[in-house]
Amino acid sequence: MEIFRTKSVEQSIRDTEAPEHQLRKRLTATDLTVFGIGVIVGTGIFVLTGQVAKTMAGPAVAVSFVVAGIVCGLAALCYAEFASTIPVAGSAYTFAFATLGEFPAWVIGWDLTLELALAAAVVAVGWSGYFASMLSSIGVHLPNAIAGDNPVVNVPAIAIVLILTLILVVGIKVSSRVNLILVATKIAVVLLVIVAGLFFVKAANYTPFIPEPVPTPQVGGLKAPLLQVLFGVTPVAFGVLGIFSAAAIVFFAFIGFDIVATAAEETINPQRDVPRGIIGSLAICTALYVAVSLVVVGMQRYDRLSVSAPLSDVFTSVGFAWLATIISIGALAGLTTVVLVLLLGQTRVLFAMCRDGLLPRSLSKVDPRFGTPARLTIIVGVVAMALAGFVSFGELAELVNIGTLFAFVLVSIGVVVLRRTRPDLPRGFRAPLVPVLPILSVLACLYLMLNLPVETWLRFLIWMAIGVIVYFVYGYRHSRTATPSVKSDG
Ligand code: ALA
Repeated sequence: MEIFRTKSVEQSIRDTEAPEHQLRKRLTATDLTVFGIGVIVGTGIFVLTGQVAKTMAGPAVAVSFVVAGIVCGLAALCYAEFASTIPVAGSAYTFAFATLGEFPAWVIGWDLTLELALAAAVVAVGWSGYFASMLSSIGVHLPNAIAGDNPVVNVPAIAIVLILTLILVVGIKVSSRVNLILVATKIAVVLLVIVAGLFFVKAANYTPFIPEPVPTPQVGGLKAPLLQVLFGVTPVAFGVLGIFSAAAIVFFAFIGFDIVATAAEETINPQRDVPRGIIGSLAICTALYVAVSLVVVGMQRYDRLSVSAPLSDVFTSVGFAWLATIISIGALAGLTTVVLVLLLGQTRVLFAMCRDGLLPRSLSKVDPRFGTPARLTIIVGVVAMALAGFVSFGELAELVNIGTLFAFVLVSIGVVVLRRTRPDLPRGFRAPLVPVLPILSVLACLYLMLNLPVETWLRFLIWMAIGVIVYFVYGYRHSRTATPSVKSDG
């Protein structure tokens, strides 16, 4: 079938070898690990920890981080194999084009927009929470209508996306040194929370570690996790089920290791170093997350944690406002890089889709003045601003998670397919126990997806249905893979 026409692996790699499109190869495993940590550590740990501990898991939020970390670990091994076999920018979209075909690739690309643009908005909202917390710790209080836990319009979130979009349009390179400083600041702050926080941990705050399940019929229907609705149980918060619902939310904290794969093309020895970068950054982040969450719930009873800036507010609660200010500043620096990379990643994926003709090719034009895909960047920025300004934080994060988990499912399937269709390709890294491991990865991702609310599923399905329509109305006809002159093997 035509919609399953593929772009061969060789073609994808050849595309990157044209001298005018060649990216400089200079990254090492350490660079990739730093880049990975820079993208991964963000709103998930800085904001969601407080939120899910307070409403879903209690002190057992640390266990939720372990569960989400394991699911990501399985998917990471699949990403690592893919990236070492097809070291081409574009991540899951490119992988799918090479294995499953054009339509599945489109589905992933469309789905990645749900991951990246929305995630940029979520992290911008997290940034805004810390911005408000920092100002209030020095005595400046922003009105509730424009910032804080439940604003009408989130002005700081819109402002940060606007500034970063302009930076991307003009194409100011954030030098790797600046990036390194920002990442180091962020990690220093996380370590500060762990070390300083230890002095304030009270054992009493850990009991009960897994709070008794509380029936929450008021969140029934659309707001209840799909799994609980399917099995007809009254929705509950806390308890063991709560740990898994929370895992489906804190999964957000791990998003980003998949973006490391997009740097494959710029890596000196991608076959060896991309897997190391992906797995290394994920392992380090998991360790940090478990430690931070254990400390935070030990410092303050889980039901009193702040939901917009828990890591700094927890220090205000123990009387150390100055430490809270330092933590907020570090968090602001750290979250800024995450928003920037997510916006950039979104633009890159859309750029690839436009270049392949699945979206208007004119959008992938590079602006002659700035040398960046300015129009596309502005479109992405405006959408992210609208989302960050007006949509509620939790809802956005859940939608990002379902989109990303779905991409993980497709990538895991792709690994098995590529082993069958192209056993000959050199693989710098081979995931162990194929096909058992990718199948486990698919099941684990589906399980977390089932723990997301019914309304998130509905939004996801509507978004994907729109994508299918756009493909058949536009992409299918304009695809360059369909044009004989650029046809590869499909
Ligand atoms: N993992 C990133 C964050 O938590 C997206 O902000």
